[in-house]
Amino acid sequence: MLKLLGGGMMYQALYRKWRPKTFDDLVGQDAVSATLKHQVAKGKLSHAYLFCGTRGTGKTSSAKILAKAVNCLSPQDGNPCCQCDICRGIEEESLLDVTEIDAASNSGVDNIRDLREEAHFTPVAGKYRVYIIDETHMLSVGAFNALLKILEEPPQHVIFILATTELHKVPATILSRCQRFDFSRIDSATIAARLSYIAGEENIHLTQDAALLVAKLADGSMRDALSLLDLVIAQGGEITKEVVFQRIGLVGRDHLFALAEAVASGDGGEVLKVAQSLWERSVDYLRLCEQLIGFYRDVMVAGAVEEPGELISCLPDELERFRSLARQMGMEGIMGCLAALQDTLARMGRGAQRRTELEATLVRMADPRLRTGTHGLLARIEKLERQVGANQPSQTATPVIPAELLQRLNALEQRLAQPFSAAQIDSGVKKEQSAPKDPPPEKIEKIPTEPFAEWSKVLDILQQKNRALFGTLVDSSAYVGGDLLLVDAGVDSMFAKMMRGNSYAKESLRAAVEQVTGKKYRLGPYNPERYEVKPKIPDKLDELLKKASELGVDVQVKE
Ligand SMILES: Nc1ncnc2c1ncn2[C@@H]1O[C@H](COP(=O)(O)OP(=O)(O)O)[C@@H](O)[C@H]1O
Ligand SMILES: [Mg+2]
Ligand SMILES: [Zn+2]
Repeated sequence: MLKLLGGGMMYQALYRKWRPKTFDDLVGQDAVSATLKHQVAKGKLSHAYLFCGTRGTGKTSSAKILAKAVNCLSPQDGNPCCQCDICRGIEEESLLDVTEIDAASNSGVDNIRDLREEAHFTPVAGKYRVYIIDETHMLSVGAFNALLKILEEPPQHVIFILATTELHKVPATILSRCQRFDFSRIDSATIAARLSYIAGEENIHLTQDAALLVAKLADGSMRDALSLLDLVIAQGGEITKEVVFQRIGLVGRDHLFALAEAVASGDGGEVLKVAQSLWERSVDYLRLCEQLIGFYRDVMVAGAVEEPGELISCLPDELERFRSLARQMGMEGIMGCLAALQDTLARMGRGAQRRTELEATLVRMADPRLRTGTHGLLARIEKLERQVGANQPSQTATPVIPAELLQRLNALEQRLAQPFSAAQIDSGVKKEQSAPKDPPPEKIEKIPTEPFAEWSKVLDILQQKNRALFGTLVDSSAYVGGDLLLVDAGVDSMFAKMMRGNSYAKESLRAAVEQVTGKKYRLGPYNPERYEVKPKIPDKLDELLKKASELGVDVQVKE
């Protein structure tokens, strides 16, 4: 299963090993690959391409495929042959005609300046000199200006391929000189199929359910999907859905369903019981609240859209459960729960008693009579209207004023004469009117931090030392403040889960940081509510150049 590289013992990550080699290998980007193949086959090439779209969707891979295809000695229907000396040279990165520049690294600017001279020489072995500029949006203003000069009059034998995840950061002057290709997020069925194929080739037993779950978690990125697969296969064995949950350290969603189903059935006691069992398993209530918000959002989508498809990340059997919850609660009920949870989350952030806060909210959610505000009232109306068999719950396009709602509510409840008395309704309304205002949020002094410049070096070490941890840190960033090193790997990230549950992970990260900086840091998650980032003093030259270009002054950088 493990592929050994050269004589060494290094494991090659699946996402590297399975980099598509031809346009036909590339999945989920049919429009892009068809057009590029056609251009190669007809010899109708542009001098500058721009590949944009979210991470892990095949931009860099396509750039390499295109570099091979335009130079290949025997291209086949626009695809590179991958056999000839040129194709092999490019794959081994030994062919001088193809240059990859990573704009995210410091050498970006220098490279672009060198390139201005070098580009004029004809290629050594192939037909074209190809420059692949990755993370183009990271180029400095100086480098963009240098690049623009060549793009204005590109030599015949030069092709530029710029790749970026952040199109809006690429100057319009550059954009207008490139042929643009948009790489879309890859849908989960396509990702799952590719995972199954790769698993088959690697002799990994991966069930369909598990492949789909990994695909859903990867959220459109094939690279993330493969990194996740790497993570879950590390200990071998059959990979089922449960194994994925367990190894990624995700809590399954069963407890959320249990809670929501208790809420929907209006069983406050059951709600508290489920909450209690979670408390005993020491689930963090803040996270639980966040998870519930995501969960009810999915319920809402399942209720609003017939075939939610990619709108919800869930397994097929979960979708049915979401649907039935949505039916049971009605749209207003769901909205009410979402609003209540969001309020609660905000209060929890301000340090309120988390457990009490959340439990009170859950009980309120279970009993619409306890809810105040428009959503609560509407939920009660919808429920009653269903009970009395009103043909259609009345749809209200504009916000309804509570008085109107109350009238409708009273009428309905009188008709049923049960289960609430008028007194209860009154007190409910009064409560809303006299509800105390939330106390103003306390001013929290934010701790200043700055970007941690050597994070990529730390990641390089982790890639060797702790592959699993490394996999969770793709696209992360880090900040330092005093002796604190704060890692931003996204909210509710797998990284955070690993750091909580896995002291080996913490040790390897600490060691890697120490190896790079020679200092010991305390580690923590980056939280924008507690820390503020002081940007590093920007490159003075870049500042000037930016000012100049804003003023319409053409400045050239002389070495
Ligand atoms: N469209 C795709 N088809 C097949 N594999 C892909 C695709 N996109 C990404 N991958 C996988 O993810 C890895 C990284 O992809 P890459 O081309 O570097 O993405 P990007 O440059 O868009 O971030 C590839 O080596 C490959 O394993
Ligand atoms: Mg890339
Ligand atoms: Zn070839």
